[in-house]
Amino acid sequence: RNSAGIIGTGWYVPEKVITNEDLEQMVDTSDEWIVERTGIHERRVARKDQPTSDLAERAARMAIENAGVKAEELDLIIVATMTPDRTIPSTACILQDRLGATKAGAFDLSAACSGFAYAAATACQFIETGVYRHILVVGAETLSKVLDWTDRNTCILFGDGAGAAVFGPVEEGYGLLSFDLGSDGAGGDLLDIPAGGSLKPLTAESLLMHENCIHMDGRAVFRFAVKILGETVEKSLARAGIEKSEIDWLVPHQANTRIIDAAAKRLELPAEKVIVDIGKYGNMSAASIPVALAEAVQAHRFKKGDLIALAGFGAGLTWASCIMKW
Ligand code: ACO
Repeated sequence: RNSAGIIGTGWYVPEKVITNEDLEQMVDTSDEWIVERTGIHERRVARKDQPTSDLAERAARMAIENAGVKAEELDLIIVATMTPDRTIPSTACILQDRLGATKAGAFDLSAACSGFAYAAATACQFIETGVYRHILVVGAETLSKVLDWTDRNTCILFGDGAGAAVFGPVEEGYGLLSFDLGSDGAGGDLLDIPAGGSLKPLTAESLLMHENCIHMDGRAVFRFAVKILGETVEKSLARAGIEKSEIDWLVPHQANTRIIDAAAKRLELPAEKVIVDIGKYGNMSAASIPVALAEAVQAHRFKKGDLIALAGFGAGLTWASCIMKW
C-alpha cells in the first residue's frame, strides 16, 4: 500500500464576531459562565447570504494552493458538514463546480463533529490503494443558521468556519498511520435537529418550535465526550503500535475546554502539546479540527516526523481519531 497524508491545508472564518458580551444582550447568560463552563470567548458568524459552500471554497482554495496542485488534478472532493447549502445537491458538488475541479467525484459526509476525521480516514483509503492521487477534504459549517438564538443551552456554544486539507501520496511511513471510527446510534436523540428531514418535514409549527435548530442534552453529551475522546485515540495508537508518550500533538474537536482537558489528562499530554483555539471560534463542528490543524501549520508548529493525533466526537453519536506522521 502507498502512504497517504496531508500535503496542504487551508482555513477560513467569516469576519463577523459575536462576543460573550453580545450574547449577554440576547439571552440570560454571562461572559463568566460561558468562559468557565466552555472556554469560549467569541465565535464567528457567516453573513445571511453566505452559505457553507462559500466558506468551504475559501478554505479549499488555500489548501489547494499550499499543496501545489491544480483544481483539475483533484480526483475526489469530500465535504464533511451538518449544515449543507441544500439537502441536494451535495455541498461537495457545489464546491466542485466553484473550484473547476473537472475530474473530481464529489460527495458529502455526515458524521457531525467527527466528520473531518471520518473523511480524512476515507480519503486515505483511495490513495493508499493507488486508485486516486489527490483528494480534497473540507470540514465546513454555518451552524449559526441552525441555532435557536433564544436558547442559552446551545447558542453560546457554536460558530461558523471551514478548514480544508489536500491529501496525496507521501513518503513511505509518513501520513496516516491508523484510525478509529465509531458510532452509537442509540444516542442519536441526545444531539439532533428534529425537523427538516423525512421523519418530520418542516411545517410552520415546527419552525415556530425551533425544531429546525440544534437540540442537545448538554450534560449527557459531556459525559459521553469526556470518555470517548481519549478512548478513541488510545484505540488508534494501539493499532499503530504507538505509545501515548510518543504523541507530539493532539488536535481535538473544539467543543469545550473541559472535555479537551480530560482527554489530554487521560493521554498524559501536557497542555503545550494540545492545539486549542476554541476561545476565539467556539464549536465549529466538522470545521473545528481542520481549522485548528491549518492554523497550527501556518504557525509552523509541526515539524517533519511529528506524531499528530486528530480526535473528534459528535452527533450520531459518532467519534473518530487518526494518527498521522507529519
Ligand atoms: N448561561 C448561564 N447559565 C446557563 C447557560 C448559559 N448559557 N446554559 C445553561 N445554564 C444553566 C443551566 O440551566 C443550569 O442551571 P440549573 O442548575 O439551575 O438547572 C446550570 O447552568 C448548569 O447547567 P449544566 O447543563 O449542568 O452545565 P454544564 O456544566 O454541563 O455545561 C455545557 C453545559 C457547556 C453545554 C456542557 O454540558 C457541554 O459542553 N456539553 C457538551 C456539549 C457538546 O460538546 N456538544 C457538541 C457536540 S458536537 C456536535 O456534534 C455538534
